Amino acid sequence: MSCILYLLPFLFFFVDACPNGTQVSSVNKSICYDVRESAKGHTWYAAEYQCQLYDNGHLASIPDAFTNNFITGYLHSTQSARHFWVGGTTTLSSNASWTWSDGADFKYNSWDFGGPGNGTGYCTLLVVPEGLWDSYSCFYSSSTVLFLCEFLNTDNF
Ligand SMILES: *[C@@H]1O[C@H](CO)[C@@H](O)[C@H](O)[C@H]1NC(C)=O
Ligand SMILES: *[C@@H]1O[C@H](CO)[C@@H](O)[C@H](O)[C@H]1NC(C)=O
Ligand SMILES: *[C@@H]1O[C@H](CO)[C@@H](O)[C@H](O)[C@H]1NC(C)=O
Ligand SMILES: *[C@@H]1O[C@H](CO)[C@@H](O)[C@H](O)[C@H]1NC(C)=O
Repeated sequence: MSCILYLLPFLFFFVDACPNGTQVSSVNKSICYDVRESAKGHTWYAAEYQCQLYDNGHLASIPDAFTNNFITGYLHSTQSARHFWVGGTTTLSSNASWTWSDGADFKYNSWDFGGPGNGTGYCTLLVVPEGLWDSYSCFYSSSTVLFLCEFLNTDNF
């Protein structure tokens, strides 16, 4: 019994673990976040591809305000960049329905003033530290834009 109690802190440590250099979500412990700091100037498409290739994941989806706040705080405290691609995209027009590249339901948004129709494109940039979203051309690339990958925490169980 005392042996089990002794082990508990270690169990919780491992439950929360994400691979070195990545961040476990405080909202959903199954999710890890990864900022590929060395990968700058990527279009939305190239960023999504990198998340699939290196993390076996996707650009991050943001299902609720808790996640939006957590991600924004995490990026603000660890990165100097202010703009990050996340997985929100639409294919038809900037007024059409939006989807997440990981397939999650697009049920929450934090669009900047005017909504996505006031932006210039069909992909989503998260603005830090405001936590607001801007719609940008999916082909936009700038050395000041990074991206946030998410992947399943396989150490979870
Ligand atoms: C984690 O990364 C840091 C620096 O990036 C390194 O010093 C450390 O050895 C790594 N730890 C493990 C367990 O890989
Ligand atoms: C946590 O994330 C995983 C992987 O995306 C998902 O399958 C699960 O439903 C999520 N759990 C909650 C409570 O949202
Ligand atoms: C989106 O809708 C608004 C208001 O209905 C309209 O003014 C704007 O031109 C539309 N934008 C696009 C890209 O269709
Ligand atoms: C679009 O955004 C600009 C500034 O960000 C604002 O002045 C303008 O009123 C917005 N347009 C709409 C239709 O909300």
